[in-house]
Amino acid sequence: MNMSEIAKQAEAVLKHNDLGNWTRPVPGVYPHQWLWDSCFIAMGWANFNVKRAETEILSLLRGQWRNGMMPHMIFSGDRDNSKHLPKMWDSRLSPYAPDDVATSGITQPPLVAQAVSYIGQKMSASQRKRFYKKVLPHLVAYHTWLYEERDPHNQGLVILIHPWETGLDDTPPWMEAMHSHSKPLWIKLIELSRADKIIEKLRRDTRQMPADERASTVESLMLYNITRRLRRKAYDSDKIMAHSHFLIEDLFFNAILIRNNQLLKNIASEVRVSLPNNLLSSMNKASKALDELWDDKSELYFSRYFISRDFILQPTIATLMPLYSGAITKKRAEKLVELLHRHDMFAANYPIPTVPLSSPHFHHRRYWQGPTWLNTNWLVYDGLLRYGYLEEAELIKRKSLELIAKSGFHEYFSSVDGYGAGVVPFSWTAALALVLEKA
Ligand code: GLC
Repeated sequence: MNMSEIAKQAEAVLKHNDLGNWTRPVPGVYPHQWLWDSCFIAMGWANFNVKRAETEILSLLRGQWRNGMMPHMIFSGDRDNSKHLPKMWDSRLSPYAPDDVATSGITQPPLVAQAVSYIGQKMSASQRKRFYKKVLPHLVAYHTWLYEERDPHNQGLVILIHPWETGLDDTPPWMEAMHSHSKPLWIKLIELSRADKIIEKLRRDTRQMPADERASTVESLMLYNITRRLRRKAYDSDKIMAHSHFLIEDLFFNAILIRNNQLLKNIASEVRVSLPNNLLSSMNKASKALDELWDDKSELYFSRYFISRDFILQPTIATLMPLYSGAITKKRAEKLVELLHRHDMFAANYPIPTVPLSSPHFHHRRYWQGPTWLNTNWLVYDGLLRYGYLEEAELIKRKSLELIAKSGFHEYFSSVDGYGAGVVPFSWTAALALVLEKA
């Protein structure tokens, strides 16, 4: 596939996965609307249908909770789709959940301001102002919710309460945190009786993909158990903060939030609206607070447990995300760029692996534990460009498009041999191919 062929096919993928006002990640395994997927997808649409890109974002707003939270999933009302997930989350338990759509009760990386600004750049000035004015109150409510509910001590870093909020579902630091708690008895019994092997056969994802490339069934049950605990507390942040096992200042999420704070400020200033003082003060703290996640000894950034303040010493793709935040010094950026060149870290044949090549967790095709994803590549690419690392950015762009030309619009790719893995045709891969191709 040459470049114009990639762009043509990428448009066809988005049209194929389009459900009118929003786009599924892929038909079948992922039939619902996901928050960060729709942000990347909207950026893709903006390259050939700005109106449709705008609709993708507006459709996300229908899922926003009355307290400002933007849920990581809005369930498709389609009767053919499984009712199991809406039931599992049961968002109606919260007084803040919307009445007319079922959603999950957690959020995902906050890239809405990013998508809105990207789309805005493709609009005329008057169109842009109208669009920005429409979405701004929702963005303000979302970022305010993040700081008010998830930064209880007002220190500038928000806390995540479920691994899925990172978007990197089974990323090693969160799996380490999950395994450090003893398993509930019912999961131990399932494991002992080897019933997990039977459950594996009922899983939707492993019917379509090799089981050893996905999270294990026991891990999936543990993830389900975390969801169940949040549901029992009706997604009430105070109750969750008081009792949860998982309170983590996640590096990936906070770096993304910091960049999106800046983009939100730009959006507000373009339409001459002042942001609330409490939000501005949290935003200002955030950039400095990111520095606390730097470990002098290893010269790496890490996520941190909120209670013990211990780092979770597992480098992953999150290690590079402060580049995207734009909030670190040039000296720190240089340190991160060195990691891209190191063969024990991120210098894979098809960069950027989601876990360093020398990590004991690395597997070139296992979900979020080593393969290359187009969305994390784009985030690092964007950060590199803003810090002036044009050569490194260009390499990531070239290799990302090469992956698609070689293997198609897969969910993710082996970082070693470039073969496609996961589901296909995957919407954000197509969307980001358009974004990179037009860059
Ligand atoms: C998986 C991914 C998550 C994504 C979702 C839909 O759960 O880990 O990041 O949003 O699929 O594509």
